[in-house]
Amino acid sequence: MALLRDTKARARRIDLSYFARPHPFRRWRSLLSIALPVVAAAWVAAMAARGDEHAYNSGGMSARHAMLESNCAACHTTAWGQRYTDPAAWQESLDRACLRCHDGPVHHLNAAGLVRGTKGRETASRCSSCHIEHESRAKLADVRDMNCIACHADLKTAGPGSHPATCPAGADHAIHARIEGFERGHPEFAAVARKKADPTVVSFNHAVHLQPDTAQKRELIRTQLKALSGRAGIEAAADGTLQLSCSYCHPSAPGGAYRAPVLYETHCRDCHPLKLKDAPVPHVAPDAVRDFLRSRLAKGGAGGDALAGQVTEAEVPLYTSDPDGCMKCHKTDLGDKFPDVPPVVARTGLRPGLPGREGTPRRWFVHAVFNHETHRELRCTECHAARESKLTADLLMPSRAACLKCHSAAGGVSTACATCHTFHDKARERTSEGTLRIGDVVK
Ligand code: HEC
Ligand code: HEC
Ligand code: HEC
Ligand code: HEC
Ligand code: HEC
Ligand code: HEC
Ligand code: HEC
Ligand code: HEC
Ligand code: HEC
Ligand code: HEC
Repeated sequence: MALLRDTKARARRIDLSYFARPHPFRRWRSLLSIALPVVAAAWVAAMAARGDEHAYNSGGMSARHAMLESNCAACHTTAWGQRYTDPAAWQESLDRACLRCHDGPVHHLNAAGLVRGTKGRETASRCSSCHIEHESRAKLADVRDMNCIACHADLKTAGPGSHPATCPAGADHAIHARIEGFERGHPEFAAVARKKADPTVVSFNHAVHLQPDTAQKRELIRTQLKALSGRAGIEAAADGTLQLSCSYCHPSAPGGAYRAPVLYETHCRDCHPLKLKDAPVPHVAPDAVRDFLRSRLAKGGAGGDALAGQVTEAEVPLYTSDPDGCMKCHKTDLGDKFPDVPPVVARTGLRPGLPGREGTPRRWFVHAVFNHETHRELRCTECHAARESKLTADLLMPSRAACLKCHSAAGGVSTACATCHTFHDKARERTSEGTLRIGDVVK
């Protein structure tokens, strides 16, 4: 028997009115396609009614802006649509919002295209090109290298002389113009490259103190160290003998980034005392030393010429005697008129001297930042060749090669410019305290 195989017969098997009859699956589909948008719209309307703008959020705030999560309007002051209708104005309004709370002072006045604002209140522009929000960043100031290289790969410098005179590398060096990365194009640190001498004017010989060259000096320092044992920075070597460690004279400064200044009273007097018949003589300027001697010797009853003679008698050895006269450590000008006129002790450079700044750490790489605390597990001598140094004039600063061992792709530690450099010129930041109330930040 022949089967019915023609197309008509086959088509008849299909129910052509299937769509007209209800079916649970299709019913749900139409129901949901109306209900879901209605729910979503109601949610958005409800959020909007409460002033909550999370619905538009494109990612988490950075950690230090966490409190702005509920206050989108702190930064987004214009209609959301403006991002598409007028992107330039949208960016401008974002920058203005940053400036309501922050200063964002300029980098350098000659950093073309980056400066704006009124004279004396210049700021860096386009904050959000460097500070990228909505990426849940731990640190909004972790700025990408491309933001720096944009200028530094082909820098328009003001040339030599644009520097502060206090720059240890010399006021006359021009900023290197082609830097593409810490590993690519970054110059040797200027003070090291230019083989600058340490300008400090006080005699000091690291090697004599750390590895005395004669048996006599070794013996002397051992005796001295025994008397000082127990003080921080005096440590026992492998063979049990006591020795000076670097931090005896170079303890860390508060905060730990830099080292505290070396001071005669704390770090030298115990071994190099200044004395008048076993009584300590204060370590002060020559005229004050003379006043001290005069008042001390006057107590013995002398006066007039006799007193002046006794003062000179005490003064000459105080300046000139070896072991421990002033001149062991200081270039001292005794002049032609000494003893009538007190001698002149040259400024050491170890005392910043400005009132209120006596304790400020000395800086060597003023164009970068460094932190000893972050590197505290390393031996000091990995970066400073101090043990062998015999002259004050030796520059003991590390070269870039020492940093590259870790701060490189091979070493695995960050090579980002922002790790070692700041951007904003803090000197131009407003000096007064902040102006916000807590309510301006948290809604
Ligand atoms: C601290 C300031 C700040 C706050 C607060 C803030 N934003 Fe932003 N927002 C920005 C910046 C900066 C951009 C990036 C602009 C650009 O693309 O250059 C941005 C971009 C956006 C964009 C555009 C999409 C994108 O990823 O570029 C949306 C949408 C947005 N923000 C929503 C929100 C919402 C919603 C909130 C509140 C929960 C919020 N923002 C809070 C600073 C902020
Ligand atoms: C070329 C990139 C760049 C631009 C443009 C920029 N910044 Fe910065 N900003 C940085 C870097 C790098 C740091 C971290 C180092 C520092 O403090 O200078 C930083 C730090 C900051 C800090 C934190 C300072 C602190 O003490 O913790 C604030 C606030 C800041 N910037 C605000 C702004 C504002 C506001 C603008 C826009 C007017 C702006 N920035 C423009 C790169 C930039
Ligand atoms: C409503 C005020 C407010 C606005 C607007 C604001 N900030 Fe902040 N910002 C703060 C506060 C408060 C902190 C945390 C305290 C501090 O560091 O001063 C902070 C911290 C920062 C920091 C340091 C964070 C870090 O991780 O190092 C940077 C950089 C910064 N803001 C940049 C910006 C930028 C760029 C904008 C504009 C897109 C902006 N801020 C808008 C209040 C604000
Ligand atoms: C808009 C261009 C521009 C951008 C972007 C820029 N710089 Fe500069 N930078 C300059 C100029 C100009 C100088 C000054 C050079 C001179 O005249 O001596 C300078 C100088 C410097 C110096 C040496 C002098 C000093 O005072 O410290 C350092 C370090 C530096 N920039 C680091 C950075 C870092 C890090 C970034 C990225 C966060 C950056 N710069 C982004 C233009 C720029
Ligand atoms: C007995 C005290 C003393 C000890 C111990 C000592 N120093 Fe010094 N150091 C000084 C004095 C004083 C100066 C200032 C004179 C000078 O600049 O040479 C100085 C200067 C320095 C400087 C800056 C000067 C430059 O030219 O770079 C460095 C770096 C330094 N010391 C590192 C070390 C290290 C590392 C050690 C341990 C291996 C050490 N010091 C041990 C007293 C000491
Ligand atoms: C633990 C004891 C000790 C301390 C602390 C100490 N010295 Fe010395 N110093 C010595 C000894 C020992 C010698 C070698 C004998 C000598 O020349 O008096 C010496 C030698 C010197 C010399 C002669 C160097 C040479 O080239 O022969 C100078 C200068 C000097 N010290 C300066 C200082 C200064 C500055 C400080 C403080 C920052 C200081 N010392 C801290 C023990 C010490
Ligand atoms: C063992 C070495 C040593 C001897 C000896 C010594 N000094 Fe000093 N002197 C120092 C050091 C180190 C400093 C820098 C740190 C400080 O100010 O304490 C200094 C600083 C000074 C200063 C400050 C200079 C400035 O930079 O402003 C004067 C003044 C001074 N000494 C005078 C004297 C006189 C006067 C004598 C002798 C009576 C003397 N010193 C003996 C090591 C010595
Ligand atoms: C990873 C390298 C590194 C290590 C490790 C290191 N330093 Fe430094 N040190 C530096 C750099 C870089 C500077 C320059 C900082 C500046 O002034 O800009 C410096 C500066 C100094 C200065 C100069 C301050 C002055 O008063 O003249 C002294 C002193 C010093 N270090 C002592 C030490 C001592 C002590 C240790 C060990 C406890 C140590 N350093 C470990 C890199 C290092
Ligand atoms: C590991 C730390 C480190 C990193 C990363 C780093 N620098 Fe430096 N940079 C320094 C030190 C230290 C100096 C010396 C500063 C001085 O002499 O005062 C310096 C000097 C400079 C100078 C001044 C150069 C001169 O001619 O005197 C510029 C400009 C500079 N760096 C830009 C950059 C830029 C751009 C990047 C990122 C591509 C970068 N640096 C990355 C540590 C670093
Ligand atoms: C033994 C490896 C090592 C060497 C050598 C080294 N660093 Fe670092 N450095 C680190 C590590 C690890 C960090 C932490 C990195 C981080 O937090 O991302 C760091 C962080 C830093 C920071 C940021 C500090 C902070 O706490 O914010 C600076 C600046 C820096 N290094 C400069 C230098 C300079 C300049 C040299 C060379 C004189 C140097 N480092 C040599 C390992 C090293």
